[in-house]
Amino acid sequence: MSRRRSKKPPLRIQPTTLWDYPSQHYGSTTQGSPDYRGATPSYVIWNLLERYTRPGDVVVDPFCGSGTTLDVCRDLGRQGVGFDLAPFRGDIRQADARALPLDDASVDFVFADPPYSDNLSYSDDPRCIGKINATEEDYFEALDAAFREMHRVMRDRRYVAIYICDYFSKKRGFVPIGTRCMALMLQYFRPIDHVCVVRHNRNLGMGNRRKAAVDGNFFLRGFNHLLVGKKELD
Ligand SMILES: C[S@@+](CC[C@H](N)C(=O)[O-])C[C@H]1O[C@@H](n2cnc3c(N)ncnc32)[C@H](O)[C@@H]1O
Repeated sequence: MSRRRSKKPPLRIQPTTLWDYPSQHYGSTTQGSPDYRGATPSYVIWNLLERYTRPGDVVVDPFCGSGTTLDVCRDLGRQGVGFDLAPFRGDIRQADARALPLDDASVDFVFADPPYSDNLSYSDDPRCIGKINATEEDYFEALDAAFREMHRVMRDRRYVAIYICDYFSKKRGFVPIGTRCMALMLQYFRPIDHVCVVRHNRNLGMGNRRKAAVDGNFFLRGFNHLLVGKKELD
């Protein structure tokens, strides 16, 4: 974890279903890697852990990327367990999110930020879900298999949160990934809530992108979906 001084608003529990925080990282340190494209803003994970977990709980991230979840777990005294097809650092284990090396009902909370279509290249591994365009049904079949696996490893009456963004391309059109993911999740989990998280993506501030969106009559992605569910066996 790199150390640097910064002045940021204090962390707080987000009270509504519209979440916003002006920085990717909280506090005077970083969580995950600032050099990793597509990392989760750490305050999102911090808020989820504060609301849905207790100290000592086992928290799993099956798409762990640069390890943001593990760093927030360390800050809050949770036992973070991270998996990824392409481990970015030594405390992340290699595994496919659809076949986790974990026992049934052994996990207290799952956070997952899967690839949103094929706009970023994460690795050469052919199993990477980020190689499938969201206009293809294979993409949703892959996410469905990952959600089923999350349900298997979770203890009863525990929570899961999926962080995902919709897809739009001028050539291929719009795919409502967030609402489709909620429908997939409902097969396994009771819906707890649906939060919109304001995106502070650098691209969103670029004048040429904004002009293209207005001129072309389409929208830049201004928010991510955060879908919260609960495993309930009866
Ligand atoms: C959006 S990134 C996660 C970012 C992470 N939350 C962070 O803060 O750094 C998605 C990750 O999913 C991984 N991934 C893609 N397909 C996977 C699969 N089938 N199983 C496990 N990980 C996969 C990619 O390698 C990538 O690291």
